[in-house]
Amino acid sequence: MPELRLGLIGYGFMGRTHTNAYKKVASFFPELKYKPVLQAVSGRSEEKIKAFAEQWGYASYETDWRKLLERDDIDIIDICAPNNMHREIALAAAEKGKMILCEKPLSMNTAEGEEMAAAVEKAGVPNGVSYNYRRIPAVTLAKQIIDSGKLGKIFHYRTNFLQDWCISPNVPQGGDSAWRLDAKVAGSGVTGDLLAHCIDTALWLNGSITDLTAMTETFIKERKHALTDKVEPVGVDDACSMMCHFANGSLGLFESSRYAAGHKALFTLEINGEKGSLRWDLHDLHRLEYYTKTDEGALRGWRSIHVTDHDDHPYMNRWWVPGLQIGYEHTFVHQVADFLESVEKGTAFSPNFRDAVETQKVCDALLKSAKARSWESV
Ligand SMILES: NC(=O)c1ccc[n+]([C@@H]2O[C@H](COP(=O)([O-])OP(=O)(O)OC[C@H]3O[C@@H](n4cnc5c(N)ncnc54)[C@H](O)[C@@H]3O)[C@@H](O)[C@H]2O)c1
Repeated sequence: MPELRLGLIGYGFMGRTHTNAYKKVASFFPELKYKPVLQAVSGRSEEKIKAFAEQWGYASYETDWRKLLERDDIDIIDICAPNNMHREIALAAAEKGKMILCEKPLSMNTAEGEEMAAAVEKAGVPNGVSYNYRRIPAVTLAKQIIDSGKLGKIFHYRTNFLQDWCISPNVPQGGDSAWRLDAKVAGSGVTGDLLAHCIDTALWLNGSITDLTAMTETFIKERKHALTDKVEPVGVDDACSMMCHFANGSLGLFESSRYAAGHKALFTLEINGEKGSLRWDLHDLHRLEYYTKTDEGALRGWRSIHVTDHDDHPYMNRWWVPGLQIGYEHTFVHQVADFLESVEKGTAFSPNFRDAVETQKVCDALLKSAKARSWESV
């Protein structure tokens, strides 16, 4: 099996999910030509990165990510660092001819994203962005159902992503634990962090968004900054709501918040078409709800499909026996498998950098609309 040697940058939440996927993919997708090898990981603290490398099985580590790019024994750079680092790393990695998998959001804004997409295209390197929710079997099944025409013309797309970890004013902003609340590091708040997932999935399932209007709110205006220890204004959006038109004529309603008490990661979507509807919820991620008007009248109602069947459901023949569900971490295994397959076949992985710029454009238009209280074209 030819090896593809990995250089991982960032070893937090996503560094762990991605590493877990690289370790498992060859076992569950044995037909793939390329096998990822945990060659090196990079982080700033030598003590911590050494411990991570030992715990997860990396052959080596670097305390400066730039060193990874200088090494001839690294084929893929996987960017799992905070958002403000994506651009610099991606541009440098493309320059060195490395393949790149980048965490979402691709960039801090559309302009950066365009620059990054142009760089990987110029370098001709395989590239992908980690909008992993596409690869939950129930969500992939939703895509297959929509594409088969079973819902007919789509009228409504409704989606949200809700959390509740910011309600306390004592949550700091900035630093390693709360960089998501620091606009200089995150770019935006829930828009780029959470709603970007809803947008990527929506663009994939329902096509492009033409125009939108939105509102955002920052409920707690000042928080102590973990790096300066001073109370500073909060520059990110805590919540956002968006109404939009899709190019296919349907109407979209999107909402995201970190102030929805009781919700930890409630990502839901519902699509209503002329022949039926679909509904999905991340808290019950192995189920897809489906309603079809073609059912016999007396039996008509919402079906709850347990998406675990080997023969009928995407990705499920890789895992256990029918009826036994899989979870969140498997989406990253599917992502790596699809990425390796695209490298093998010389086809474009989706979403790639260019696809992810489309999500970035919607995020930028949303933030602009909220500020100007206007309708914006995408
Ligand atoms: N696909 C998803 O569902 C998903 C979920 C969470 C986060 N993300 C994205 O993944 C990225 C990382 O988020 P996270 O939750 O893993 O954050 P995290 O805070 O858990 O980890 C970030 C890592 O980057 C490292 N880092 C920071 N500066 C560095 C530097 N100069 N050199 C090397 N490493 C550095 C930190 O030490 C840490 O290991 C973000 O872009 C985020 O938006 C995506």
